[in-house]
Formats: sequence, C-alpha cells, structure tokens
Amino acid sequence: MTRAVARSHPNIALVKYWGKQNEQLILPAAGSLSLTIDAFPTTTEVTLDDRATADTFSLNGVPAAVGQTARVSALLDIVRAVAGVDTFANVDSISEIPTDAGLASSAAGFSALAAAAAAAYGLELDSRALSRLARRGSGSASRSVIPGLAVWHAGNDEESFAEPVNGPDVRMVIVTLSTGAKPVSSREAMRTCMLTSPFYPAWVASTKWTLDGALEACRDNDFTRLGRITELHANRMHALIQSADPPIRYLTPQSVAVFDAVAQLRAAGRSCYATADAGPNVVVLTTPEDAEPVARHLAELGETRIVGAGPGAAVIERGIEP
Ligand code: PMV
Repeated sequence: MTRAVARSHPNIALVKYWGKQNEQLILPAAGSLSLTIDAFPTTTEVTLDDRATADTFSLNGVPAAVGQTARVSALLDIVRAVAGVDTFANVDSISEIPTDAGLASSAAGFSALAAAAAAAYGLELDSRALSRLARRGSGSASRSVIPGLAVWHAGNDEESFAEPVNGPDVRMVIVTLSTGAKPVSSREAMRTCMLTSPFYPAWVASTKWTLDGALEACRDNDFTRLGRITELHANRMHALIQSADPPIRYLTPQSVAVFDAVAQLRAAGRSCYATADAGPNVVVLTTPEDAEPVARHLAELGETRIVGAGPGAAVIERGIEP
C-alpha cells in the first residue's frame, strides 16, 4: 500500500477572501494576502487501500462526520482523476488547532491533505499546482501551501494559485477567546453574503484595490501601512457578514473588547493591528519588538500565543507499507 504523510500550518488573512466567482472550482471573487504561521500544524497521512470500497477519514483519531469525509473524498477524486488511479484511501489527520473556531483549520487541513494525497497517488506537483489543488478543498488552503506571506490570485483555474510575497518581518498574537465550533460555516456564510448583502459588490471592488495597497506596503517594507490595511479590511469583512440576511455575526463582545484594547495599545505607541477570521478569536498583527508587551497586555482578555512566519506544506514521509 502506498502512503504519504504531509504537514501544513494555518494561515491568517491580512486581506481577506470572502466570496467566490465560481463555487465548484473555488475561484475567489478577489485576491487575498495572508501569513502562514509557525504554530498549530495539521499532519495528514494518506494510505491507499486496494481492498477499500470507500475513502475513510479520521480527525484526531475519531471517524469524521459524513459531510467532512465527503469533502475529503471530493479532493481525493480530483487527485485520482489526474493520477489515473481508482484506489480508495484511508486519511488520518491530527490537527493541533481548535477545529472550526475561525482559526483557519480548514486551510491547514486541506493543504496537508493535498500534499499527502498528491504524494501518495504519485503526482509530482510544483507549488503552484499544489496550491491550485489545495484550493479545491478550501479556498484559504491555497495559501497554506506557501511559507510566510502569500498572495492568492483571483482568475481562472490555471491563474488562481498562491505564491510567496516579500514583506516586513511580522509577528502575530493569537488571542483565543473560544474554541467552540462556529455557528455558520464560512462556506455557507459566504454564499449568504453573496446572495443577500447589498454591500457585496462594493466589498469585491474595494478588496481589489485594498490588496494592491497591501502588496505595495509589503514591497515598501511598510509595517504601519500593512497593519492599517489589515484592521480596516477585517472590519469591512465583518460589516459585510453582519449585513447578510439572515444576519451572521462571528465577533462576540469579547472580540470587540480585544479590538478596543489593540486601539488603546496603538494610542500608547505600540505597533499592533487586529483582525479576525470567521470566528470570535482575534489575531493581532505586530512587530518582533512589540509582540511580547502586546501579548502580555492582551492576556487579561484571552489566552495569548505569539507566532511568526511558518513553513509551507511539506511531505514528511512517504513509502510503501507491507
Ligand atoms: O477557506 P474557507 O472557505 O474556510 O474561507 C476562509 C475565509 C476567511 O478565513 C474568513 C478569510 C480568509 O481569507 O482566510
């Protein structure tokens, strides 16, 4: 039996992905920018099984729900079609991130799965092709393939991949407020926003120029501009989400308190900017010098962890099992 193990880390978006121009191919309505971090990896083992009549998927040792297994199987189908192999596989994932709490667990998960599945089924993919494959599992996974800062391009299937960006040396303080599952999946919430929010077209148009500004800030090594854009864009995304019908709100009063505390820290001279993905937890973009004092201050509000730029997806073992 052929097997491969791959590891990948989550990424936190500075310019957010929220909305698709093609749901089936997971092509984003606009590009986005993120930092792949050096904590909370997912490690995934894919083992081809000649006798199996279906794929299996376990997460942290527990068989996954039917819907989750179907998403894993759908990605394996893409790999199988390219490889010209029909064999089903057993997929075992260990995730060190609290699942579904809006800390991009699906990004690390599908990036690790794409890398392990490609290796197990014998595909040699370069990082663009791997990023495009990971994208089919979960859009944000396209960026976790890439180490550190990554831009994910909008475009057609061939054009929509992530690649590295040079930029300032940053740290993030992750402020964990809740590890519970989010009330609405990002996939469903995105669809509701696209279908019902009158702000959606403005969001897509403004994200394009926001990304241009963020990439310029990276090129100029301008942390302050990148930070301002990060917080602005997070606030805009959450405003859009709240404008859906029925409304969705991921931020809690505790999340808002962290945004306020970050504004106070800035007023006191610290370089720090808040963001949040589809969940209540807040991530603070900061500099290497300010990471410790910012984390110490925010520890009153939640559990804090300082992270930096992390590696891209990597195959860490491969072989034939007896
Ligand atoms: O990849 P998905 O479908 O889980 O969407 C993730 C969307 C956000 O995390 C909220 C933003 C982003 O760009 O990662």
